[in-house]
Amino acid sequence: MTNNEPTSRFLRACHRLPVDATPVWLMRQAGRYMEEYRVLRAQYSMLELIQTPELAAEVTLQPINAFDLDAAIIFSDILPPLIGMGLNLEFVPGKGPVIYNPINGPEDIAQLQTPPTEEYLAATIAAVNIVSTELAPRGIPLIGFAGAPFTLASYAIEGGGSKDYAKTKALMYSQPDAWGSLMEKLVVVQADYLLQQAKAGASALQVFDSWVGLALGKEAYGHYVAPYNTKLFEMLKPTGVPAVNFSTGTFPYLEDVAACGGDVFGVDFRMPLSAAWEKIGYDRAIQGNIDPMTLLAPWDELKIHIDRVLDEAAGRLGHIFNLGHGIHKTTPVDSVKRLVDYVHEKTRM
Ligand code: CP3
Repeated sequence: MTNNEPTSRFLRACHRLPVDATPVWLMRQAGRYMEEYRVLRAQYSMLELIQTPELAAEVTLQPINAFDLDAAIIFSDILPPLIGMGLNLEFVPGKGPVIYNPINGPEDIAQLQTPPTEEYLAATIAAVNIVSTELAPRGIPLIGFAGAPFTLASYAIEGGGSKDYAKTKALMYSQPDAWGSLMEKLVVVQADYLLQQAKAGASALQVFDSWVGLALGKEAYGHYVAPYNTKLFEMLKPTGVPAVNFSTGTFPYLEDVAACGGDVFGVDFRMPLSAAWEKIGYDRAIQGNIDPMTLLAPWDELKIHIDRVLDEAAGRLGHIFNLGHGIHKTTPVDSVKRLVDYVHEKTRM
């Protein structure tokens, strides 16, 4: 044992060190399924919550105080960095994120700014400071995060969510130089944002490439995405904190995703955890992966899905229990509590 070996279950699992029980946290663990969150959201818009450090800190801690979770994740979203780059973002109730001036071509990309984090994202950095200070004596690590360049580019170009990524892929395939310049700018902004979160006290950094696997196959991923993700993970190394590389739909080329970097791989529910781990390699940690919608089923059914994931992890070092994607807003709070407690009880050494 060295002196700087981490003590929390979550960080120990990131480093594939032995744990007394499998750590668990849930993507989007702060949100509308919690009454405490809905009360605050009735008073403030999504962006007001994110841009007021005390409120963002309060929301971050809501699930930590309600459940026995092993990590907190700073409350924000992947999209606010786009505001500083010059995009006009709003979270429209019932619709999701909307960008009113989406990128249309090379001229727009040339206009995009790459301001330092302190200019536009200072509130989130302040929230990281507040939460990490509060959680340090409780031994709970805080995860900082950012979106990966492809997923952010898709919002910037489509102006919101998309089913087929037609505009994104049209630009990518027909204007490769402009695409490269957009991806480079996104890497600059996201890397600085993540580095500042680590500096402010985040103990781990998760990069969300939520839509890349739904949009692109192996060859396109290798050509148009992998070089930028590789650069981003390389830039995070000096922080010394573990990086979590999360994506969905990438099972057919998970080995290429893994080659881009990261210490922990977040995998979705479309593949068995055991098969994903084999592809990634047992020398890397894994995070996942039950279908978030199983939390909408009765406990007896949910338990089957939890058991299956734990069986597939087979007690190997480096498993962090999580969902295969964000928690749904109709999730019963009681299912979250039972899940967290059950994972701990069943894996307790
Ligand atoms: O995990 C956490 O608790 C941290 C907070 C967090 C949010 N979004 C809060 C949020 C994180 C890590 C995200 C990431 C995010 N945001 C991703 C990547 C992860 C994933 O789920 O794939 C993506 C693609 C987004 C973009 C986004 N933000 C969408 C598509 C939506 C609308 C859909 C929805 O669920 O309403 C959001 C809004 C959003 N982000 C909410 C929350 C709590 C709901 C906002 C509200 O209160 O109305």
